[in-house]
Amino acid sequence: MSSYKLDLDGKSVELPIVVGTENEKGLDISNLRAETGYITLDNGYVNTGSCESQITFINGAKGILRYRGYPIEQLVEKSSFEEVSYLLYYGKRPNKSELEGFKAKIGEYSVVPKEIIKMIEAFPKDAHPMGMLATAVTALSGFYPEFVKSNLNDDEKNKALPLLMGAFKVISAAIYRHVSSGSMKLNSQSSLNYPEDFVSLMFDKSDEDVAKALDILLILHADHEQNCSASTVRMVGSSKANIFASIASGINALWGPLHGGANQAVIEMLDSIQADGGDYKKYIELAKDKSHPFRLMGFGHRVYKNFDPRAKLIKGSCDKVLAKLGVSDPVLDIAKGLEAEALKDPYFVERKLFPNVDFYSGIIYRALGIPTTMFTVMFALGRLPGWLTQWKEMIEGDSLKICRPRQIYTGETLRDFSDQ
Ligand code: ACO
Repeated sequence: MSSYKLDLDGKSVELPIVVGTENEKGLDISNLRAETGYITLDNGYVNTGSCESQITFINGAKGILRYRGYPIEQLVEKSSFEEVSYLLYYGKRPNKSELEGFKAKIGEYSVVPKEIIKMIEAFPKDAHPMGMLATAVTALSGFYPEFVKSNLNDDEKNKALPLLMGAFKVISAAIYRHVSSGSMKLNSQSSLNYPEDFVSLMFDKSDEDVAKALDILLILHADHEQNCSASTVRMVGSSKANIFASIASGINALWGPLHGGANQAVIEMLDSIQADGGDYKKYIELAKDKSHPFRLMGFGHRVYKNFDPRAKLIKGSCDKVLAKLGVSDPVLDIAKGLEAEALKDPYFVERKLFPNVDFYSGIIYRALGIPTTMFTVMFALGRLPGWLTQWKEMIEGDSLKICRPRQIYTGETLRDFSDQ
């Protein structure tokens, strides 16, 4: 069956069936309103495909995540963040010289105008780093005017990834330096790989173990198909807003605690459970209590209903990283206790709620010496190639349309303003 016939109010419409390469099926409802007057209503886009995409495949029931067809487990083991970023954005694995050329290009762009550093310094030191990041990325538009237009040529599109990866690395490190009152002298070293250089920009020394742990986290965060921030990037980009504005919108969407901001919220939750005596079972009960606003942060996912493969890999590396760095963090035991308790509790089992990517990542970031308010910036650093890839696929698509959902109006009907 290649289409589905729907009859509504005596009118009928043929809805084409779209089948993906992994046999995912969708109904194309583009003609529904024109033919029948109906729209579909899907609060939170729980069941709405916003695009066809060739970038990332997720099977939530089976806990599968693949970038361009490659399983995340293999990429974590055998690849690097730079290679994964190249793979996502350019759509193919780089050969050795392409990868070297790409790293050199990132190095070229790993300098940020001093005015942007000054802008970061102008923020109060206790301002949230995500606000600084979004501001600094938007401000890049003033320094790269050739990218501030709706139709970038191929050369400009090719440069956009190394440009933003280079700038993002330096901006993120500058934000860390500012909030931790460090020196604002930032010298990127092109001889180092991306995570090594980032660690060196942050701490003035590079540490192989820290950089390796970071590389894995960056790969695991690099893309996640049509999540809240990627969809925001696509939506803003669909208005032909420039690339800096589109990426900054993704940063702002990621900031929320139900999305990337959950990594900060998890550590704050674990710390407060510890400060409250460590009785995590009490918090499991609170999370189940619908009259209480508490939710178990780092638990649950819109798509994964079995396990989040990223969380599995991060949990696996958490013990290793802490042991290697000689760090012991008491909240790790609380996190493991919460997880074990939740996984046997009918409330969590019935709702298919499992630890997500944010549940254990904060414990690693903290072991690496990164302050809690910087955690979501770390997520953004990893997600940048995914956002840019989603933006590029959208802008290059044959059927680019401004994203503009409809609504069912439930407000007042016509009334006269003079009535009172
Ligand atoms: N703690 C307690 N209950 C939860 C939780 C949680 N963390 N997550 C979901 N539930 C419950 C809901 O109350 C709801 O119960 P009900 O059916 O009795 O009303 C049910 O599980 C379904 O939850 P929804 O909120 O409808 O699921 P949705 O897909 O809309 O939300 C989300 C997914 C936002 C991730 C949610 O699980 C959540 O708030 N988790 C905590 C925040 C978090 O960790 N976010 C990071 C997600 S990963 C990422 O974005 C990078």
